[in-house]
Amino acid sequence: MKRREFLLGSGAAAGALGLGGFALASGPQELAIQPASFSLREQVTEGMVSLSPDAPPPVLYGKQGEVMRLPVRNTLPDYTAMHWHGLRIANQMDGVPYLTQIPMGEGETFHYEFTPPDAGTYWYHPHCMTMEQMAHGLTGVMVITEAEDPGFNSEQVINLRDFRLDDAGAFLPAYTPRGAARAGTFGNVHTANWMQAPAYDHAAGSLVRLRVVNTDTTRIYKLHLDGAGARIIAWDGHPVEIDVPMPSANDPLLVGPGQRVDFAVRMPESESQTINLMAKLPGQPMRAMARLRALGASVARDLRELSPLVANPVAKPNLDNAQLHEFVFGWTPEGGEPNNGFCGSLGYNFWSINRTPWPGDAAQDVGPLATLEMDKSYVLRLRNESPNLHPIHLHGLAFIPIKSNLRTLPPLMTDTMLLLKDEVVEIALVADNPGDWAFHCHVIEHQKTGLTGFIRVV
Ligand code: C2O
Ligand code: CU
Ligand code: CU
Repeated sequence: MKRREFLLGSGAAAGALGLGGFALASGPQELAIQPASFSLREQVTEGMVSLSPDAPPPVLYGKQGEVMRLPVRNTLPDYTAMHWHGLRIANQMDGVPYLTQIPMGEGETFHYEFTPPDAGTYWYHPHCMTMEQMAHGLTGVMVITEAEDPGFNSEQVINLRDFRLDDAGAFLPAYTPRGAARAGTFGNVHTANWMQAPAYDHAAGSLVRLRVVNTDTTRIYKLHLDGAGARIIAWDGHPVEIDVPMPSANDPLLVGPGQRVDFAVRMPESESQTINLMAKLPGQPMRAMARLRALGASVARDLRELSPLVANPVAKPNLDNAQLHEFVFGWTPEGGEPNNGFCGSLGYNFWSINRTPWPGDAAQDVGPLATLEMDKSYVLRLRNESPNLHPIHLHGLAFIPIKSNLRTLPPLMTDTMLLLKDEVVEIALVADNPGDWAFHCHVIEHQKTGLTGFIRVV
């Protein structure tokens, strides 16, 4: 990583430029899903999927409450559809094949257009040929900036994910049936923004907004920051309104696939001191996934100078009259193969919701797991009866965890709830976005082998 590859101190969008950040002010820019090649290690890896021929999917910037127009063109021979993870937008823009749109064939363009109601850190990925396209690179970060500038000097987006490569840098199969039936199949090249342990320069003593996103298909990261004056300011996009203890080496933060954490970081005083984003991967020593490196003379900012982030306009559920719905996530005794139409099948059913494996995206006459009435409050009881962890994701709505049988859960707004082994978590929400909302595990192998369904809001 070259020094000064990233601009310093020029406001919120600066950190994105090195990733090819798109200026939305210049009007709609077509996003063309296309083959790419990139040096993930020493050798160039071919057969990647991105939005340009030789770079990771860019950070897409939008503004809270302002319309975004994102024409997505598919140049691949395979079908696809793009999903905007965590955005509470209109159902027909949600990018879920057969549920909200027809998948896009080769040469087709879908004009996504939506107005994000919430600021924060979100991301995008395909929801058709999901395993193949995500495993080959198509996972990008989306930043929705606040109406009011919270006062950082700069920001840094870190897109964490693995790739599964052989020694020659070629892709290994994205999954194994053995993995899919258990915790998932793990990658062996661990990247941040498609690089191994990149270092990013930010002015010494400055305030950096560090946005960490887990876009991996499988891995649950155990993260902490090393050498930092920092605090957690947002979780899964939404501002944190309580004091969340900073994770440490002994007490790391679990960030499941699909989840995001934003830190306010105060850079060290002296030139070239670093703050490291550390991860503990199974069977390996603690490693730095990415580094922030202090540059120049200290600009002497203080974390207390930041204005607190303004809460997103998410309705607060009323627990007194909330109706309860129960969901059980577990294995399925049935074999069979889901019918995903043009969207690819892994060829197995291993998992189920309420003991029924998802019959497939393209299966006919599949009903919702639950039907919720518009603007009413609900409690969803999520029971993991398997020994594996499941990041359970609901599209189109934000929710708050209210209790767990295993731990004290801070009431942090989210769209993805990581269920631990044998955990039962209750979440609460107001059903205020109409439509059919996908509800699935974000370990893509689980999602694509049965652990999927949808919830209807009418
Ligand atoms: Cu991030 Cu249905 O997905
Ligand atoms: Cu989503
Ligand atoms: Cu799962």
